[in-house]
Amino acid sequence: MKHAHIIGWGHYFPPRELSNDEISKVVDTSDEWIQARTGIASRHIVETETTTQMAFEAAARAIAIADISPSEVDLVIVATSTPENMFPSTASQVQALLGADSAGAFDLSAACSGFVYGLDMATQAIKTGAVRTAVVIGAEKMSRVLDWDDRGTCILFGDGAGAVVLQGSNIPGGVMASMLRSDGSGGNVLSLPAVYENPVPFLNGSGPKKGENRNVIDMEGRQVFRFATRVIPQIVNEVIEQAGIAIEDVALIVPHQANTRIIESAAKKLGINPNRFFLNVNHAGNTSAASIPIALCEAVQAGRLKPNDIVIFVGFGGGLTWAASVIRWDAGPNYQDNPGIARMRYGLNRYRMRYRQLHRSVMARIGGSPTPNARLKDADKKK
Ligand code: COA
Repeated sequence: MKHAHIIGWGHYFPPRELSNDEISKVVDTSDEWIQARTGIASRHIVETETTTQMAFEAAARAIAIADISPSEVDLVIVATSTPENMFPSTASQVQALLGADSAGAFDLSAACSGFVYGLDMATQAIKTGAVRTAVVIGAEKMSRVLDWDDRGTCILFGDGAGAVVLQGSNIPGGVMASMLRSDGSGGNVLSLPAVYENPVPFLNGSGPKKGENRNVIDMEGRQVFRFATRVIPQIVNEVIEQAGIAIEDVALIVPHQANTRIIESAAKKLGINPNRFFLNVNHAGNTSAASIPIALCEAVQAGRLKPNDIVIFVGFGGGLTWAASVIRWDAGPNYQDNPGIARMRYGLNRYRMRYRQLHRSVMARIGGSPTPNARLKDADKKK
């Protein structure tokens, strides 16, 4: 049976940092309150960058570390709740920007658990042999879906992207076990409407009136807090049992970065020291689906993972959803990113994308090839 190994990782933060003090100028809050209740001091927010661009940057870095060509990628999954479009998917745009010409691509919606869901989907595809190499990305521009008048939510979130490259091999290791969970009955405690529902002229009075449906996060903070502190220890215990290991065997837990107090409470329930959890929420905030792969990259950079270590990813969030994976960290020492040539290739990809778009529109104008239906009608006329 094939094993799915993480062979590359990369992350991207937009350069603009937003401090608690800056937020306290627009809502009634303070740096002291935010740090004490959440552990967050600052976060990054996009100025002009898109979710697609951030996802591409993270993926390009992960591919450089994996030292593979984008043409080897069979599958691109982007976990996001903040895509530019429902379609085309962020993943398809990233696939084209990477020049991953043999890959399938789709977006995945599981809120802050999305990256672990994506990792499991890619792992299962690799295990069947259908896919050899997959890029799994979490990317979010949370700053664009916040109500900046609501101090209960706008202080929590940040923007960014993280990615890993997974590759199949017969060598044991890599993703050892995964578990996905959902409880839709709790959907109302943490939600973000996907589509602005425009009034439909034929349906009198049906649907929301203009301005009623704002696409912003709505959250019952205390209920989410209780949910998270309950499910993290539960799913960590379940997934290590499935992997056939004990909590003592785990070198590091990389959790979804929501809040320091949530992690401290989960560590207590698990009976382990909180420093076994890797935390970067202090400067990243909650970047939803991007938070685990970003934290993973920072953990690697900080030397917190050695070859053969066992690491757990645990995500939780809207849906409600939660998920965990156990991974044997067997990546080689090939951490050097040599972006020069790859960057040139990605530059050319942009031109290639534009050329294809132009070609398509010219072909459409000059007639191109008729649809099967048009061809049938033509044949009918000739009879
Ligand atoms: N600054 C100052 N005061 C604030 C505030 C802010 N940013 N946000 C809320 N408050 C106030 C409330 O208005 C309330 O005041 P009141 O007692 O006068 O009514 C008081 O602080 C306590 O509010 P409460 O909501 O009970 O605070 P809390 O201790 O639960 O902390 C959260 C709020 C949001 C930090 C906390 O509930 C939390 O972290 N929840 C989980 C959120 C999360 O991680 N979501 C994403 C999961 S994927």
